[in-house]
Formats: sequence, structure tokens, C-alpha cells
Amino acid sequence: MTTNRIQSLLQQMTLEEKIAQLTQLATPFYKGASDGGQITGPMAELGITEEVVQNTGSVLGASGAKEVRSIQETHLKENRLGIPLLMMADIVHGFKTIFPVPLAIGCSWDTEEAERSAEIAAKEASVSGVHVTFAPMVDLVRDPRWGRVMESTGEDPYLNSEFARAFVRGFQGNNMTEETDRVAACVKHFAAYGAAEGGRDYNTVDMSERQLRESYLPAYKAALDEGCEMVMTAFNTVEGVPATGNRWLMRDLLREEIGFNGVLISDWGAVKEMIPHGVAEDEKEAARKAIEAGVDIEMMTSTYVHHVKELVEEGSLEVSLIDEAVIRILELKEKLGLFENPHRGADVEREQELIMHADHRKAAKELAVKSSVLLKNSGILPLKTEQKVALIGPFAQSGDILGPWSWQGSKEEAVQLYDGLLEKSSGIFVAKGSDIETGSEEMLNGALDAGEKADVIVLALGEHSDMSGEAGCRGDIRLPEVQLELLSTIKQLGKPIVVVLFNGRPLDLTGVVQECDAIVEAWYPGTEGGAALADLLYGDANFSGKLSMSFPHTVGQVPVYYNNYNTGRPQGAPDAQVRYVSQYLDIPNEPLYPFGYGLSYTTYEYSGLQISSETMTPDETLTISVDVKNTGSMAGEEIVQMYVRDMAGEVIRPLKELKDFEKLPLQPGDKKTVSFTLTEEQLRYHHINLTYKSDAGTFTVYAGPNSRDVQSATFTLLK
Ligand code: BGC
Repeated sequence: MTTNRIQSLLQQMTLEEKIAQLTQLATPFYKGASDGGQITGPMAELGITEEVVQNTGSVLGASGAKEVRSIQETHLKENRLGIPLLMMADIVHGFKTIFPVPLAIGCSWDTEEAERSAEIAAKEASVSGVHVTFAPMVDLVRDPRWGRVMESTGEDPYLNSEFARAFVRGFQGNNMTEETDRVAACVKHFAAYGAAEGGRDYNTVDMSERQLRESYLPAYKAALDEGCEMVMTAFNTVEGVPATGNRWLMRDLLREEIGFNGVLISDWGAVKEMIPHGVAEDEKEAARKAIEAGVDIEMMTSTYVHHVKELVEEGSLEVSLIDEAVIRILELKEKLGLFENPHRGADVEREQELIMHADHRKAAKELAVKSSVLLKNSGILPLKTEQKVALIGPFAQSGDILGPWSWQGSKEEAVQLYDGLLEKSSGIFVAKGSDIETGSEEMLNGALDAGEKADVIVLALGEHSDMSGEAGCRGDIRLPEVQLELLSTIKQLGKPIVVVLFNGRPLDLTGVVQECDAIVEAWYPGTEGGAALADLLYGDANFSGKLSMSFPHTVGQVPVYYNNYNTGRPQGAPDAQVRYVSQYLDIPNEPLYPFGYGLSYTTYEYSGLQISSETMTPDETLTISVDVKNTGSMAGEEIVQMYVRDMAGEVIRPLKELKDFEKLPLQPGDKKTVSFTLTEEQLRYHHINLTYKSDAGTFTVYAGPNSRDVQSATFTLLK
């Protein structure tokens, strides 16, 4: 129900004021900003007048309580109707206290910790004046060449959906009018941005509607079911039409079918990009298509400002379309309490207290511990305090461990690996060995010197943060050549080598796996990264992280993901021919490390998989149970996973689909039974005509420590 206030504002607003309300500009446009009011370069080309700025509805990238208050104050003086601005920014995995990147958080399988990280991010952002975060990013990802995989929680629709919900809860809380420590969330990028062809950013996406619904939509829907206030359009095409001008996607699917009634914002410049996409002749046509699709806010281009008035006046656009967009934006302002309290959480004093609070750093450390994945360990880990350690590599003493989206994070305040290890080790020799992409003989010699003095070598390798993230795509996803050389040179010393990786994507580890004794995937672990890793490397904490995205053997397998389909000629079938099966002649079909994989310092034994019944009717549930025993000597937390395969559907069905998981703490020697409940609803899928239902027939259930090493049992669904 639109309130009287909003109805009255709408009546008073001129068409120009309404259109400006639909425009989002960056901080430098605003006089109240410290660098404000002086527009140069490409921003000047937007041709935005001062009058438009005074009437805009939202700001991109403003933060800092003092600055935001000043922008808002100046704006309220100049805006005829006193409509406050919405301050939006990308608070993706922390504001100043930086948590691990989302792909790492995905590997924690810990939705409670994820929720807490978003709550802390919201608290720090809100006190700095931010009202809306452009997060969570929930695009399903299967291609590690795409630089933005680090922004996603991974390749599984169910796991992504669980995280999508957790992030939204953490950002928004229960009542944003009263809880000013929260921010509104904006789920992105709708839709299927993660499926860019060839893993090249912004590239064409072309997939069946079934695939879209089955794999890509669930996480966006989950965020919206949780009450996410906003949606951002994707840069890519869906069914041949750029998402930002795609009426079917935005009106029919998002608004009508999913029932989303909040604010839809374009991605940066995406309205105007309909011209190079080749679906709009000019800005005017681009503006019309975006409005018709229901895009309420145009981010950082000015097609609305320059053309919507004309479109309305010539009768090509109904003014009701403009009104509905304005109403949605004003409603969000109302929900955030901005009419009563335009400065909302922005508070210079509290900002000092809250930002980088010790509790926040503690939470960031805990999540970094849970997000790192032990990929290989031939027994050299955990390190012993009495061992002399050579810490070598470009990430030995680097603060570039926050990831490409840590906009406000400070590399200077990040705990480097060296700082962390120093706390634990009795003797540590450090050498850079090489830069990330270049090196020298001198650096290499320094590394050899350090290595010679040590009992064990910790090699901190990886990608610098610009090598992933937006427009950070790579065709070769190995470590840069110079780092591989560093590793093989160090190997000649004959000492045990532990590789710790800092990177934003699953890598091709050719030249690494065989050369070392242990591999820790640290991702970009955030502000407390070095401290968390030191605890893990010395066994003061145990590894529990499991991959939420497969690691390929080589880039030639990509995309390689666990929930793929069989073929008519699967590899390894009992009657398979030698040649005419679906396989490569030179590389395996399977990934190097599958979805769900990760080691720890203890071992777990799975036994006794049981299903409560061999049959199930739609109104019954099944209980699937499995015993898990900690057979090692250290306490740990095992992520027990349950998958299902529909053996014969109307359309092909994935070989495995994650249906549930549990994080199970186990002391050495402890054995516990984990029970999962399976309902008929979890067996539904999209049929030929896209109806969503289950079929009678046989299903296989799997349980295990990852998607590969599972036990199985079968049951029949009766209808
Ligand atoms: C990115 C979005 C981001 C926006 C605003 C775009 O380039 O694709 O993810 O939210 O910029 O910073």
C-alpha cells in the first residue's frame, strides 16, 4: 500500500523530477562531497546539469559518516521537495573489516558465519552512511576463467541458495526502519551472469530456459524469498536480449512469476550498453527498452535524463511506468526511515568505535579459518614450533590478501602471512623469491638462501587481486610462469614444501601438485588472513573447508562441475568401448579436486548408509542416515554431504545434486549418526514443458565427505 506521503510527493513531482529520481550518479557529482561538484572526463560526457543532480534519487559509492552527512544535508537544502538520497555502495564481503572473498565463504559451508559476516559488514557500512549494498552476488559459476567467480559462493544451486538467504538476513535483519545498523541488500546480477561464454566477462549467455530455471535462478529466488529489497540487472544477454532491456526476464519472470516488487537497478552503464549490444539504435531506444523492462534506476548513464521526457510526451512511454518506478524508490526510502531520519546510521563518533572493532576482526578470523581448504597433505602439516621455516614467495609479506572487491579495506591493516607465522615459529627466514609475474636471479638466490637454512619451506604463491574480479578473466589459469619456476628451483633443495595459495579462482595446479608436499587454498582470506592461516598451519585450528567449486586438472576441461549430466556414451560404463565414449584423449573427464572436497588434520570414516524405507510416496518423507567417525587424533568439524540422482527423468537429470549437508563436530574417536530428511519436493525438476514436479521411479541417494567419494543406496518414489 502506497502511503499518503508517497502519493502526495508523486502528485507534486514534475516529470523532470521523477526522471531524475530514477538516475544514480557517483559521489563526485554531489556538491556536499569532499571532491564533489567538479565533473571531468567520461563523467562530464554524461551531460548532467546541476538541476538533475539536485533531483537524483541515489548516489553510488559514497561512504564515511562525515562525507555522507554533508552530501545529504546539501542535497536536502537544494531538493525542492526534500526527498532524501539513497546511498548505495558495494559492500561485498566486509566494509573495512574484510572477510574472506565469497568463493572462500562458500567453502566454509557455514551459513551462520556468513550471516554474521554480512551483519558486521552492514554495521560498519551503515555507521559510515551507506543504506544499500550491491550484494549478495549469487551468480552460479562453472568457469574459473571468469574473474568474477571469486564473488560467488560457487557451482551449486542449493549451496548458493543457502548462502544467498544467509547474506540477505545478515545485511537486512528483521526491520530496517528500526535497525539502523542494517542495510538493504541488492541481489545481483539478474540473471545468469556467471554463464558468460568462454569465461570472458560481459560475454554472451545463451542457455535453455530449463537450465536457467534449474541451475541459475534458485539462488536469486532464495535471496528474494528472504526479503531482499533490490535486484541488479546483469550485463549479459538472456535469450538473445540484454538483461537490462529484457521484458520477459524482468517483467514476466522477475516481477510477475517470482513476485518481486522492489527496486530494480541497472548494472553500471548497462542501459546505454544496449547500443553496442545491437538491440538499440540510440540512447532513446535504450531508455525506452529499459523502462519497459521495468528498470527503475539507471546507474551511471544518462539515457533516462535525456530521453524519457520526450518519450512520454510523444506517447511512446506511459507515464504510469515512470510513476511505478518512482513509487518503488520512494517506498524503499520510507522503509529505511530516511524521511524521518535522512542521516540514518551515519554517525562520526560511532564510526570510530565500530569500524574494525576487535569483535569484527575476531569474526573475520574465524571465517577465514573455516574458509581455507587443505587440498593436499602428505603429513608435513601441521608445522611444529621447533621447525625452522623459510617463508618464501610474493605473498609472504603481502597485504594484497583482501580480494578485488575490498573497496574500503586497508591492505596496510591486513595481517600478512609473515606476521601470523612469526607469532608461532621459533625461527623464520623470509624471502620474496619473485614478484607475482616477474622475477630476477637475485630474488631467486635470496629464496634459495632462506630455504637452505630451514627445515620446511612455506611457499606463498598466487594471483594479485587484479587477476580476478570484474574484467579479470584469464585464458591460462595456472600460476604465473615465474612462480612455477620459483617452486621448481626451491624443490631442488630437497626440503618439504607447503604451498599456500592466495587467489580468486580455482587454478590449474599443473606444476604445483606434484612438486610440493602440501597445498593450502587460502583464497583471499581478508583482514585476518595471516593470523587464521598461522593457526591452521600450526594445527592450533583444524581445517574444515570444502571446495564449493571444482578444481580442474587443466583449463581444457573447463567448464567442469560435479552436477553435470551423463551422456549416451559415458566414460567408464561396464560395456563402454575404448574409443567412442565421451572423453578427451589427453586429459581426464573428472576434475582434479571435486566439489565438496577438502582434507583436515584428522580422518573420518563413513559407514552404514541407511534409508528409512525402500519406497516413498509424495506425502511421506525418507530419513537418510550415515555414521561418521573421527578416526584420527584431532578434533574436527566434518561437512557431511547428501546427494540424490534421479535415475530416469522425462529430461536428463544431473549425476548428483546436493540436497543437504551438516557440519558435524567430532572429537577423536567419536562416532555420530547424521540424519537427513528427504521430501518429495526435493525430487522435483522442470519437465519438457517446464512444469515443476517429480516422477515416480528409482532414485539413488549418496552420502559422503565430498561429491566423489560417496556411499549409495536406492529407493523408489511411488505415485
Ligand atoms: C559491477 C557491479 C557493481 C557495480 C557498482 C559494476 O561494474 O558489475 O557488480 O555493483 O559496478 O559498483
